[in-house]
Amino acid sequence: MTRRHHALWLGALLGGMVLALCSAPAWSEDTVLKTEAFGTLRRPVAIFDHDTHNEKAGLDDCAICHHVYQDGKLVKDSSSEDQACSDCHALKRQGRQPGLREAYHGACVGCHKSKGKGPVACGQCHQR
Ligand code: HEC
Ligand code: HEC
Ligand code: HEC
Ligand code: HEC
Repeated sequence: MTRRHHALWLGALLGGMVLALCSAPAWSEDTVLKTEAFGTLRRPVAIFDHDTHNEKAGLDDCAICHHVYQDGKLVKDSSSEDQACSDCHALKRQGRQPGLREAYHGACVGCHKSKGKGPVACGQCHQR
């Protein structure tokens, strides 16, 4: 590749990146939260930039959030990242299995409270 081609190519790449950044909505394209099961949302979708969040929070074990239970026991070395939280958690609690909103809040707010890090106020996660 000649130097000039290189510069053109780099310019196009940077231009594309700037465009991508400018067109991203406030809660980013990386939001993976599956909210369909809630129907009409009462709050704006929570902020959750999956990979950036987990890197910053130092979470390497996927099963901290994507857990698998069998007969009420957590199954070690097994994770369920191929499933949505709503695949297992119905809107309403079923025995020891919390309802969907409780499941999210239990995982997210629960950890933030126990670590004393991360948002715990409604409007910090559910941002307009
Ligand atoms: C802090 C909790 C947390 C951790 C740790 C975590 N995830 Fe997730 N992940 C989520 C949530 C929440 C969702 C959205 C699921 C939903 O809303 O049903 C998700 C979604 C996903 C999805 C689906 C993406 C999509 O768009 O369909 C994949 C794949 C995934 N996670 C993989 C992983 C892997 C691999 C790891 C470990 C390296 C991991 N996750 C660690 C919370 C976490
Ligand atoms: C494969 C099915 C399955 C998936 C997928 C799943 N859960 Fe669960 N979850 C369960 C079961 C079963 C229980 C009840 C465990 C018990 O018997 O105590 C549970 C319990 C919980 C609890 C309370 C106990 C605890 O471990 O803190 C929270 C919070 C929770 N889930 C959050 C989530 C979130 C958030 C997601 C998505 C990232 C998710 N769950 C995905 C099956 C699942
Ligand atoms: C196992 C612990 C843990 C779980 C589970 C967890 N978080 Fe966090 N979260 C943290 C920590 C630790 C921080 C602070 C990271 C830092 O030092 O900046 C954080 C920070 C955040 C922040 C601040 C901005 C950012 O990305 O750093 C947001 C927003 C957030 N979490 C949302 C969520 C949501 C939504 C969920 C549930 C889907 C969730 N978190 C689940 C530990 C957790
Ligand atoms: C750490 C982040 C976090 C905090 C703090 C938090 N939530 Fe949530 N909340 C979530 C996540 C994640 C979901 C599931 C995905 C979504 O709807 O954004 C959720 C779901 C909900 C839902 C069901 C979906 C809907 O919009 O109808 C309601 C209602 C809700 N939260 C209200 C609240 C209220 C009220 C507070 C304060 C008392 C609060 N949340 C605090 C992360 C948070």
